[in-house]
Amino acid sequence: MTELLQLIKGRKSVRTFDGKPVSTEDREKLEKYIGTITNPFGIPVRFVLLDAGEHGLSSPVLSGESLYVAGIVPNLPHADEAYGYAFEQLVLYAWSLGIGTTWIGGTMKREAFEQAAGLSDGERMPCVSPLGYPASKRSIKEALMRKGVGADSRIPADKLFFDGAWDQSLPTEKQAPMEDLIEMVRWAPSAVNKQPWRIIVSGRDYHFYEKHDKGYINEKTGDLQRIDVGIALYHFTAGLEEAGEKPDIVMEDPGFAVPENVEYIATVRRP
Ligand SMILES: Cc1cc2nc3c(=O)[nH]c(=O)nc-3n(C[C@H](O)[C@H](O)[C@H](O)COP(=O)(O)O)c2cc1C
Repeated sequence: MTELLQLIKGRKSVRTFDGKPVSTEDREKLEKYIGTITNPFGIPVRFVLLDAGEHGLSSPVLSGESLYVAGIVPNLPHADEAYGYAFEQLVLYAWSLGIGTTWIGGTMKREAFEQAAGLSDGERMPCVSPLGYPASKRSIKEALMRKGVGADSRIPADKLFFDGAWDQSLPTEKQAPMEDLIEMVRWAPSAVNKQPWRIIVSGRDYHFYEKHDKGYINEKTGDLQRIDVGIALYHFTAGLEEAGEKPDIVMEDPGFAVPENVEYIATVRRP
């Protein structure tokens, strides 16, 4: 298993923290890393660290956290996928330091976070995450939540990766050489663990689509499932980059016939 795949598979949402504040050293590392985060959509995503105590911030699904990060993006086309792509970099980096996170798009007092983060007109704050050290044991509430969404399982590869046409499973001989990349995509986090990403493989092109479920789009969050696709795109691209490739991400809908609730997002083009 590659180092990145290990990091991706090792990360789980953390909702029960040990109550210790993030060390000054780790906080500095996070701040420095935030300055390096980019995305291929040319949309600026900014991050604000927020002390829970100072701003009176909390989430009903979390315990023991004392620091949050809020991610903010301008209301522009492609903001959602840019956001997923950018925020997930911080999630994985934090985990490499032993710092747990949970993408939170719903279960929070949104107004308090938006105010603390200094949200301006023309911007939205789709999600926040706690930042802290995991407690040795999950709370009962967290364990139940994980069970409720099947957080420890994922959709099998042949239902996600298609061969040149919608719903045409990528045969195992074509999966084999990209097994690690497939796992990186499969184990991405997503809202309610819906895993709305689907990929049509066509030559050196990997066309990413969003399979919409109802109820994931609103004015405050944008399209949460499009954010999910941005996360999966980042995992896939980072996997290629780890292997020394420099893929392009382009937005050129190849025009494959897809069901009505399916939307083309972007293509990863391998050199
Ligand atoms: C865009 C997005 C929004 C999410 N919103 C919430 C949320 O509001 N509350 C929560 O407890 N978890 C939230 N999650 C976390 C998912 O439930 C979690 O990633 C999924 O169940 C898979 O579990 P894992 O992260 O441990 O692999 C969100 C995840 C994503 C990607």
